[in-house]
Amino acid sequence: MSPDTEVGSNIIKPKTIYLKDYAPAPYKASHINLVFELFEDKTIVRSEVLYIKNPDGNSSTLILNGQDQTILSVEIDGVAFTGYMLADNQITINEAGEKFTLTITSEIHPETNTALEGLYKSQGTYCTQCEAEGFRRITYFQDRPDVLSIFSVRIEADKSKYPVLLSNGNLVESGELANGRHFTAWNDPFPKPCYLFALVAGDLVRIEDTFKTMSGRNVDLHIYVRSGDEGQCDHAMQSLKKSMQWDEEKYGREYELDLFNIVAVSDFNMGAMENTSLNIFNTKLVLAHQETATDTDFMSVEGVIAHEYFHNWTGNRVTCRDWFQLSLKEGLTVFRDHEFSADMNSRSVQRIDDVDHLRRFQFSEDASPLAHAVQPDNFIEISNFYTMTVYEKGSELIRMQQTLLGEDTYRKATDLYFDRYDGHAVTCDDFVQCMADASGRDMSQFFLWYKQAGTPSLIASSQYDEEQKQFTLTLKQSQADTPGQTNKKPLLIPVAVGLLNEQGIETHPTQVLEMTEREQSFTFDNVKTRPVPSILRGFSAPVKLTTDLSDDNLRLLQLSDTDGFNKWEAGQTIALRTIERVMADSEVDISQFIDDIGIMIQQGLNNKGDKALLARALSLPAIAVIAQTQDVIDPAAIDSARTHILKAIKRTHKDALLRLYKDNLSMGEFSISPEAMGRRSLKNTVLELLTVTNGSGCAALAKAHYDHADNMTDRVAALACLSDSTQPEREEVFTDFYHRFKDYQLVVDKWFSLQAIANRDEIFDDFAKLRNHAEFNIKNPNRVRSLYSAFAINNPVKFHDPSGQGYAILRDAIIELNAINPQIAARQVTPFREWKRYTPELQAKMKDALQAIMDSGNLSSDVFEVVSKSLN
Ligand code: ARG
Ligand code: ZN
Repeated sequence: MSPDTEVGSNIIKPKTIYLKDYAPAPYKASHINLVFELFEDKTIVRSEVLYIKNPDGNSSTLILNGQDQTILSVEIDGVAFTGYMLADNQITINEAGEKFTLTITSEIHPETNTALEGLYKSQGTYCTQCEAEGFRRITYFQDRPDVLSIFSVRIEADKSKYPVLLSNGNLVESGELANGRHFTAWNDPFPKPCYLFALVAGDLVRIEDTFKTMSGRNVDLHIYVRSGDEGQCDHAMQSLKKSMQWDEEKYGREYELDLFNIVAVSDFNMGAMENTSLNIFNTKLVLAHQETATDTDFMSVEGVIAHEYFHNWTGNRVTCRDWFQLSLKEGLTVFRDHEFSADMNSRSVQRIDDVDHLRRFQFSEDASPLAHAVQPDNFIEISNFYTMTVYEKGSELIRMQQTLLGEDTYRKATDLYFDRYDGHAVTCDDFVQCMADASGRDMSQFFLWYKQAGTPSLIASSQYDEEQKQFTLTLKQSQADTPGQTNKKPLLIPVAVGLLNEQGIETHPTQVLEMTEREQSFTFDNVKTRPVPSILRGFSAPVKLTTDLSDDNLRLLQLSDTDGFNKWEAGQTIALRTIERVMADSEVDISQFIDDIGIMIQQGLNNKGDKALLARALSLPAIAVIAQTQDVIDPAAIDSARTHILKAIKRTHKDALLRLYKDNLSMGEFSISPEAMGRRSLKNTVLELLTVTNGSGCAALAKAHYDHADNMTDRVAALACLSDSTQPEREEVFTDFYHRFKDYQLVVDKWFSLQAIANRDEIFDDFAKLRNHAEFNIKNPNRVRSLYSAFAINNPVKFHDPSGQGYAILRDAIIELNAINPQIAARQVTPFREWKRYTPELQAKMKDALQAIMDSGNLSSDVFEVVSKSLN
């Protein structure tokens, strides 16, 4: 069924929007004055906008978007006005004139808004989420990112309930009103699109600090949280200061206002939002303390605080012309936050983790019916395009441009970009043009990366000419068809290559080969003996690489490559090959692989090398990563091969592993330095290997680990090791954990997740209990993710249980969520979208689940789009 098909007689057919239809806004709205009167049972919004006909526009029809609000009055230049049409969530005014002031007063209901878009309430605090199209739920406006306005905002509310009243920009006035009410007034001097508007009203406490900018100005930094959470904000504040400093040093970008606010709320559809000078965050990405947050949480907080701060320049000062350009700000900002994290921590570890994430989630998106280009050319619901492709693949496209230009020229190009476009709404094409102009390169072939969906495949074969002392690398690229795209053109692929000799010594340092043809050969001279090439160093392009390297070649790279990423990658490739062999024949001899693991354990015992890297080297690829290499996905078969190997590792190396575990049972003061995190990561990876058999000894070891833990990373590791167990310790530890942390919502989320991922027979009964638990709340996105996403994504064996029970769980949740929160409902469809790649039995059941959602009626455009496209 095509997305344009009518699905039921009383259902409005969702409309597809096309990039090719872009036209400039007919009217400019250079100033907007907003007044909010917040009451318990309603909010009154008055907006006053001066509209001036846009000389670049080609229409005199003013169209204002608006949704879920009741119009109380409309005036033009102070006189009541009725000459407008109201239909399909739009006000249309034909022949609206050259210049006029339009004042609209309407009533909205944040107190019953469960979609968490527009103005809503989270645990008593009013907050907003306007990106992408939430502003239309606040007032009637041209809700599109190319309309830039100076915002003046006045907020009135009860003073005792809402002592804190915030909006963007500078506080210009505040004061008392009758009936215990008060007000504040804000002005943001920089014109911005309405998706960056924000408002907060609540009873919050604030943590303060300051930052001195490169030109010597002091910026006040405030983080607002619920009372009781103020002790968990230090890491976020430090991360913010480091981000501000890094952006000055690496990109020459200074913050321009005198105040920067962050507010943390418990109910949030995404991670965080970069509203100008008033970032609103999911508490999960602000609060962090050793007792309640894992190392992964600390890293996420640092990365997302940076991400939202970096948006100030890449997103806010220079914004998107339309939503097809989303990657203009998101791809670039993800790249910036990844590089920031690499500079703050370990570069190799960061790259390994980022690529692992890309492979798990973006590669699978690119291989699904929802595959789309980084710059898509159509959508039904833009919320569905906040994807791994737009964000993570988009970031890889920026990384490749930096690789092709070199760091210095890339910096010149970004300087040019900010210079040329500050205060403008632009396109991905404009960004790439700056790369071209600064470097003198033609970037037109590179731009195909933005337009062609699908993960390219790259096949490398090598040839050595003994006589000529030449080594030739032949590369072949191809890109499979994706929905609406066939016969793709060859891409410009930067392939970073170095050569090692048979002793593992690097003879030829990294060179970036620029591949432009479908098939191309590159010759290296002065190669004295047959080399081992290290190809695609640092994962220089987001492709699926296949090489003709032997296992021995890979082992040499694993031991000796100078590139940290490829050292890890070589080990993963050997592991993938070994898993393949076991899947084909469970009796196959894997002793060589198991012995190699023994060598690495020995290196750890001799304290050689980076512990974080060793932890990653000792980890087998996740089921989701292995699945990407399979023609037909059978999660249970992957799991049993994987577990077979893990058990062999434990059986063969138990004593050495125990020693390595004990060596790394760190004592002393808790720290989140890369070394300390690396040690915990190694210790917990070893614990996982030691407890893979789930017997009584495993449970005792995991419980002891839990009892000795002084931090959340170790506690969660212990719980994860007990999750599949049926030993009595499981219950004891989970119960203790719940009682100890029941006042910490984010930790209770972990308690839900760690049970939802249990690969054990009791899971379906357990799941029903968790779903009915007093602390489960389907309206809270974090709780939904902690139960349903944890199950459907991180428990592949039980989600894909042959009975179909796992699918039924998710199907019912999506139908229920569709009526509550369409964005969250649509996200939950993700685990179903690759249904065609599974075994015929699983395929049929997944398809049935999708069809049942389709037939359930009254689908939001969000859910309609992803389900109908998945079924296509
Ligand atoms: N711009 C935000 C960020 O990446 C994401 C907001 C997405 N919101 C949404 N409703 N899809 O930082
Ligand atoms: Zn972003």
